[in-house]
Amino acid sequence: MEADGNTIAETPAGFRCTLCSVSVPNRSSLDQHIKGRKHQTLSSVRDTRKTQEEHSVFVSGIKPEVSPADISEYFQQFGQVCDVIVDKNKGVYAIVQFGETDGVKAALSCVEHRMKGLKLSIKPREKKDFKLIPKKKDVQDVQQVLEHLKPQLCELMSVDEQMRYVVEHCELGEHEKKARGLLVQLLQEVFVEFFPDSQILPFGSSVNSFGIQSCDLDLFLDLEKTKVFQAHAKSTAVPAGEDMSDDGRSEDSILSDIDLTAASPAEILDLVATILRRCVPSVHKVHVVAGARLPVVKFHHSELNLRGDITVNNRLAVRNTHFLQLCSWVEGRLRPLVYTIRHWAKQKQLAGNPTGAGTLLNNYALTLLIVFFLQNCDPPVLFTVAQLKDMACEEEECVIEGWDCTFPSQPIAVPPSRNTQDLCMLLAGFFSFYAKFDFASSVISVREGRTLTIADFLGQNKEEEVMQEARPPMSPHRSPRLGPLNLLDPFELSHNVAGNLNVRSVLGFQRECQEAEKYCRSLQYKRKSAKGRSWGLLCLFTPSGATARTQTEPLTISIPFKEDSLPASLHNQLHAMGDGFQLLWFQKVCSAVERVLQRVLGCRLTPSTDGVFGKSSAVDPDEDAETVALDTSGNDSREMAEPQNHAVGTKRPPPPSGDASASPQGKRPRVAKRGKPKNPHWACVQKHTVWAGRRKVRRELIKDADSRPEGSCVELESQVTAHIVEKETEIKEPLEFKVEPKMVGGTESSMAELKLVPTNDKTGVFQDFFHFLQVFLPKMVETLLADEG
Ligand code: UTP
Repeated sequence: MEADGNTIAETPAGFRCTLCSVSVPNRSSLDQHIKGRKHQTLSSVRDTRKTQEEHSVFVSGIKPEVSPADISEYFQQFGQVCDVIVDKNKGVYAIVQFGETDGVKAALSCVEHRMKGLKLSIKPREKKDFKLIPKKKDVQDVQQVLEHLKPQLCELMSVDEQMRYVVEHCELGEHEKKARGLLVQLLQEVFVEFFPDSQILPFGSSVNSFGIQSCDLDLFLDLEKTKVFQAHAKSTAVPAGEDMSDDGRSEDSILSDIDLTAASPAEILDLVATILRRCVPSVHKVHVVAGARLPVVKFHHSELNLRGDITVNNRLAVRNTHFLQLCSWVEGRLRPLVYTIRHWAKQKQLAGNPTGAGTLLNNYALTLLIVFFLQNCDPPVLFTVAQLKDMACEEEECVIEGWDCTFPSQPIAVPPSRNTQDLCMLLAGFFSFYAKFDFASSVISVREGRTLTIADFLGQNKEEEVMQEARPPMSPHRSPRLGPLNLLDPFELSHNVAGNLNVRSVLGFQRECQEAEKYCRSLQYKRKSAKGRSWGLLCLFTPSGATARTQTEPLTISIPFKEDSLPASLHNQLHAMGDGFQLLWFQKVCSAVERVLQRVLGCRLTPSTDGVFGKSSAVDPDEDAETVALDTSGNDSREMAEPQNHAVGTKRPPPPSGDASASPQGKRPRVAKRGKPKNPHWACVQKHTVWAGRRKVRRELIKDADSRPEGSCVELESQVTAHIVEKETEIKEPLEFKVEPKMVGGTESSMAELKLVPTNDKTGVFQDFFHFLQVFLPKMVETLLADEG
């Protein structure tokens, strides 16, 4: 493809962008990729590099004592010199960049170059292909720490000791804390010159007690008092020519250039960036990230080797930092848990978005997940935020932007926990808690220490909206952006701190928790190896990939039987089935799955040869036993068998809980008896990437889609698919896969299990589709079953 500097190649599976190292299945995805930020940024960097190469020459033969100014002066005779870069380490070569390519030609055509008694040699710049080099620094750091700790960790006597050892070796040292303190002081002195009465306040891991060596320094520039100063200065305007305010301080020109009350955070941050660049020594790489949820100025302090972020509208973050600090003071087990779980999550690539943006958990969200787990231990290890509020005294009351942020300032006000579990048990408990957590239908409230169902949460929000309309709003509180993981900030209740996660990252998190839970049940976790083998934390710290699942493992989607979410009429029907309820439910599920795949997601479906579904391997383990076949048509006039014909294994499952006499029909429906069915399955064909960009399309279709969770409305989801199908071109070679449903589990844990097997996946999109279906399908099936009521 010529359109983009020969960086796009056509492949059997679609297209590959060699510039960004990205493969896409079809042309419309390619167009989207090309328009995207990553490609645009890299293209522009590549173009700049190319121009620089064409405008510069490579100079060797210089000596360290020669300055860039000397070199620039010498080469001016050939053309205007824009830049001189001298190699930092040895100072024996340099790159001289001219404003025009004529300068390059002139310098190269000169036979001999002599400067300050040195004979220089000049060459054209080497033409190198521009390639994206992934930043491996973070990963390497983690590996190094791990490698370094390994032998010592192995020698310790218990998991508790190992966890405390991790803290000791990763926490911020006194020296680092001091350096951070000095930088805060320096910035405070500089900013107050330009923004009178302003205050620079650190927050995040540098101060919340969970900081690791070389973590970023998060800063909040508080300009509230400066705004008061500015307003006052304006109202008592001084005569022209005088620039002193009435308290004797100068209103610097920066303040006369901007109205802090009316300016946007991004505008203020532009000024902050200018001050950093011009007035703070050793500060480099200053840039404003204006598009983030909270705009930020990023910088690097070269002498202290510290990266910093400054925000101007983040008072809540300072407060939640104090909250985490309080939790950590009150409960000594929190720090070892946070350090260990953060390290585990980083190794498994579940948390710590290296560039700030991304679909992984951020460290704050991960810490809140730990806090939430500890609130839910029995007995609880941590109090809920609502309980802490009640322990605060009047002077500690605190409301920020309309959110109640009250909690005690001193740990003494909080009684100790009655929970005596050791760290080893708590860590295993964390994995087990989230291994089976129902992320898809829950909203996690750290404030209340409990989960709400999405439906209850939305209902509660609606009520609050109505109440808010009745009284003057303190701030425009919006509903949070719901997604595959809903974790509400403990104070800013309209903020889902895990709103950036996608289905794949949530499933990844849960899968790793399941793996870790399994491992924590083994002796290898709890008992030191007598032979010096890896044990305890060491196996949990194995980087992901080393224990990654193989592609050959069957990909299954489970749809659990959830009695509570069934509508009354279906409940009664199942009830009336007695022992046969599982089969009828399974039939309904199969019928719903078929509708989701076919009608909602636009797959072409070919049922199995005899059109029969529902042979249950768990319900009917005996191949010779009479089996019960189910029809997925959902047609009520089907032939039904008496419940006693339901073929079971060793155990007869009872009907769903409740009174059997509640059946309105008074008699039990029958299940079709058709002899032994062939192995049932659907053969499916999907021609479009109906999973890609769904959230965005849904949001576009319905304005308040943020408050309509995925899979809650059949109509809407079908429209989303239609929209994607209309806009996107077909996948180069349609995806073909098989779906094989079966019923598993006993009465208490009945579930439909769908095995998905790709039969033609030349474009390599099956994994993405599967990850999407893993969450989408059970939700949609639940919705369809509920609609039957
Ligand atoms: P981080 O996620 O960076 O956490 O958020 P951290 O503890 O500082 O960890 P490092 O820096 O990755 O080591 C930094 C701070 O930003 C605020 C919190 O105060 C958090 O401590 N924050 C972050 C929020 O208030 N809301 C968010 O959604 C995310």
